[in-house]
Amino acid sequence: MRTAEIRRRFLDFFVERDHHEVPSAPLIYNDPTLLFVNAGMVPFKPYFTGAEPNPWPRATSVQKCVRTADIEEVGKTTRHGTFFQMNGNFSFGDYFKDGAIRYAWELITKSQEAGGLGFDPDKIWVTVLDGDDETRGLWKAIAGLPEERIQSRGLLDNYWHMGIPGPGGPNSEIYVDRGPEYGPDGGPVVDEDRFLEIWNLVFMQEELSAVRAKDDFDVLRQLPRKNIDTGMGLERVAYLLQGVDNLYEIDEVYPVLDKASELSGRRYGADHEDDVRLRVIADHVRSGLMLINDGVTPGNEGRGYVLRRLLRRVIRSMRLLGVNESTFGELFPVSRDVMKASYPEVENDWPRISEVAYGEEEAFSRTLTAGTQIFDLAVSDAKRNQQTTLSGERAFQLHDTYGFPIDLTLEMAGEQGLNVDEQGFRRLMDEQRQRAKADAKAKKGNAQAVQAYAQLRDRGETPFVGFRTLSNESQVRGIISDGELTEAVGPGDTVEVVLEETPFYPESGGQSGDHGRITTADGTVLDIVDVQRPVKGLVVHHAKVVDGELRTGQVVSTEVDPQWRLGACQAHSATHVIHQALHEILGPTALQRGSFNRPGYLRLDFAWGNQVSESEREKIEGIANTAIRDDLGVVAREMPIGEARASGAIGLFGEVYGDIVRVVDMGEGWSRELCAGTHVQQSAQVGLIAVNAESSVGSGIRRVEAFVGMEAFQQLAQERALVQGLTEALNVQPDQLVDRINRMVSQLKDAERQIAELKSQNLSTAIEPILAKAHDMWGVAYVADHVPGVTGGDLRTLATQVRDRVQEKAAVVALVGGTPDKPSVVIATTGGARFRRLKAGDLVRVATQTLGGRGGGRDDIAQGGGSDSSRIADALRDVEYAIGHTLQTG
Ligand code: ALA
Repeated sequence: MRTAEIRRRFLDFFVERDHHEVPSAPLIYNDPTLLFVNAGMVPFKPYFTGAEPNPWPRATSVQKCVRTADIEEVGKTTRHGTFFQMNGNFSFGDYFKDGAIRYAWELITKSQEAGGLGFDPDKIWVTVLDGDDETRGLWKAIAGLPEERIQSRGLLDNYWHMGIPGPGGPNSEIYVDRGPEYGPDGGPVVDEDRFLEIWNLVFMQEELSAVRAKDDFDVLRQLPRKNIDTGMGLERVAYLLQGVDNLYEIDEVYPVLDKASELSGRRYGADHEDDVRLRVIADHVRSGLMLINDGVTPGNEGRGYVLRRLLRRVIRSMRLLGVNESTFGELFPVSRDVMKASYPEVENDWPRISEVAYGEEEAFSRTLTAGTQIFDLAVSDAKRNQQTTLSGERAFQLHDTYGFPIDLTLEMAGEQGLNVDEQGFRRLMDEQRQRAKADAKAKKGNAQAVQAYAQLRDRGETPFVGFRTLSNESQVRGIISDGELTEAVGPGDTVEVVLEETPFYPESGGQSGDHGRITTADGTVLDIVDVQRPVKGLVVHHAKVVDGELRTGQVVSTEVDPQWRLGACQAHSATHVIHQALHEILGPTALQRGSFNRPGYLRLDFAWGNQVSESEREKIEGIANTAIRDDLGVVAREMPIGEARASGAIGLFGEVYGDIVRVVDMGEGWSRELCAGTHVQQSAQVGLIAVNAESSVGSGIRRVEAFVGMEAFQQLAQERALVQGLTEALNVQPDQLVDRINRMVSQLKDAERQIAELKSQNLSTAIEPILAKAHDMWGVAYVADHVPGVTGGDLRTLATQVRDRVQEKAAVVALVGGTPDKPSVVIATTGGARFRRLKAGDLVRVATQTLGGRGGGRDDIAQGGGSDSSRIADALRDVEYAIGHTLQTG
C-alpha cells in the first residue's frame, strides 16, 4: 500500500468518526521552545493545557515532523529518519482511554478491503505503564489480547511528554511482531527491532512544570480535562505494509536511493558502508526538500544550520561514493516527484526550492575547494615540522570556517598518513555548543509567564479596537510581574499588562508593537514600550510604571502615541509598496519570506537567487516613489479565504490563517496582500522611500532595507551633506566628483607602481657592492653587509637576490638593515652551505642575540630583529665566528 494511501485511510477513518481534519502545520511552528515540529500534537498544545479554547472536540492530522537528535544513526538502523510523518487523532476532553483503544484496534485490524490497515490481530503486542490496570483491562476487553501480550514498563518507556514543561501523560504503545527472522521472542521488552512500535496512545492528563529526563519530571497539576494524543509512525506502517525492511526502502524514499546508486554505480545491498551512505542520501534529500519547502534556508545557526548539515552530509556521502560532480539536480526532482502526491506544494514551489538547494550545493563545492587548500597547507606545515598529528584547532577551523565535517578531515588526514587531535577538536566543539546553548536559553523569552497568560486568556480574547481609534477607556484584566499574576504595582516597576480591550497594535506580521501610555484618573502613568501577543488572542502590554500605582480591575485611559502609529502605518504600507515594486522588476517569484518594520524603517526578505543590481535597485525605488506620488487609495476588507485568493491577494508564506482573512488593497488591485496590520489611508502619506541596502541572508534569499518618511528624508540629507563635503575638499562640482575620484585612484596606483619599480632598481644596484665584500672561509663564501634603511620584505628580497647570484657556490648571505632603533637581520644559505651544516635559523639566532633581540626560521632563510644598532658590526662578526666554528668542528 502506498504511503499516501495509508495517510488517506487514516484521515478518512477518523473524519468518519467526527474528527475535524486539520492540515499539517509547517515544520517551523510559532513556538520558541522548538526548533522544528517534532510531534503531531505540537499545534494542539494550547488546547491540551487550556491556554486557548479548542475549536473542535476531536481532531485528526498527518503532521510533518523533523527530529535530528539521532542524525548519526540514520542509515545504520531501520528506524531512524530525520523527516517523518505522524498520523494522529486527538480528543480535547471528549473521549479518553476507552475510545482511543477502540479506534486504534479497529483501524489496524480491519481488513484492507474494508478500508482498514489489515494487520493480523495475533501479531499485535501492547505495552502499558506499570500499575495502569485500567488500560490493561481495556485491551483485554476491547481487543481480546491475552495477558502475555500486554507488557508493563516504567516511566522511561510508557510516559510521554514534550521534553520541556507542558502537557504529558501515561501512554500505551502498539507493536507489530515482524517474525523470528528479525530477533528473539519475548515481546517489545526484549527486542524493539523484531517488535516494531507503530502507534503511541498518550493519555494526556497532566501538566509538567519541570522536565529533567524522560522519567524525571515534576507534575504541576492535573489538566482540567482528560485528553487523547496519539502518534502513528506513517513511515513505519508503510514499510510493514510494503513488505520492505526499513524506512529507506518505502515508496517515498527509495527512488532517491536508487538514483544515488545509479549515479555512483554502487549497487545497494553489496557493501554495508555504501548502503549506509545511500540511505543517508535518501533520507536527507527528503528532509532537505521538506524543510526548504517550509521556508528554512541554509545558515550557520539554529534551523538553518540543521538544514545545511543535512545537505552537506548528502554531498559528502556522494563524494564517498565516488561522485564529485553536482548531483542535487538529479536527486531532488526524484524526491519531489514522490512527495508531491501528499504535498502538492513541493511542486508548486519548485523554482524556489530547487534554487535554494542547488545554491547550497554550489556554495559547499566552493567551500570544499577552499577548505581543501587550507587542509593541504596544514598538512605540508605538519610534515615540514615533522609532526604526525593535525592539531585540534586546525580541525575545528576547518569545521567551523570551511564547513568541513570532522570525518572528512579524519579521512583526508588518514590518506596523508597523519592523525588528528580529535580530543582537542571535541573540546573546542563542546565549548562552541555551550555557547550556542546559552544563546538559545536567552532567546526562550518569558516562558515563566505561560500559566498567567493561560489564566488571562481563559477569560476571552483581547479585542483590538486600534483600527478605528488610538485611545479609549478600558479596564485592567491582569498584571504580570516576574511571570506571576499580581494585584498591584508601583513606580519603577516593569510589568506586563492585559486590558479588557486595546487600541495598541501587538507586534505581528512584521509590524512592531505600538508605543504610548496608559493613565488612570488618579494620576497613574505607564509608558508602553512594546506590545506582544504571546498566545493567540491575548494582547500583552510591556510597560514601565512612571508614576502612581496600577491595580487589577482599575479603569484606565489608553493613548497610542499618534506619531508612532503614523510612522508604523507608513512603514508597513511602504513594505507592501516595495513588495509590489519587486514583483514588477524581478517577477512574481520574488515573494516575501519575512519582514520587519518600525516607524522610519523597513526590511523585507524575499526569494531571489542573485544580487539585485544597482540599476534594478534604482528601478525598484522609482516604482515605489511613483506609487506614493500617484496617491493610491488603501482599503482593508475582511473576506473568506477562498475569495481572497481568487482576487489575487498574495498570502505570505508560513503564516496560519483562519477562514476569514483581511485583505489590504492599494490602488484597486495594484497591490493586494493578506495582512492584519495597520496602514495609511492614501499612499501619499508614506511620504518618501529611500532604498538603502541590498544583501544576501542565506542562499536563495535577499534582503532590501529602506528608510521611510522623515527618516528617508534625513538619510538623503546626510548623503547630500557628504557630497557637499567632498566637493569642497576636492574643489570640483558634484557631477564631476566620480570622475575626479576615479582619476585620483588611478594616479595613486601609478605612483605606487613607480615607487615599487624604483625600490627594486635601488635594491639591484645594491647587489654588486654587497657581493664585492664576500670573503672565503674554508671554501664557503661569507657575504655580509650593513644596508641601513632597507626593511622588512625588501631586506628579505635583497638577501635572496644576493644569494641567487652565488647559488652555485657554498655561500652564506647575512644582511643587517632596518632603522637605528630597530635593526633587523636576514640570513640566507645556499644548498652548498647547508651541505656543510650551516643553517640560516641557527646563524640568525647568533646575530640577533648580539643585537639584543630574537629571531629564527628555516635552514635556507631566516630573519629576526634587535634593539642595539651600535653592535651591528659585532653581530656580523659573531656570525662569522659561528660559521668558522661549524666548519672547523665538522
Ligand atoms: N505525542 C506522542 C508522540 O509523539 C503521540 O509519540
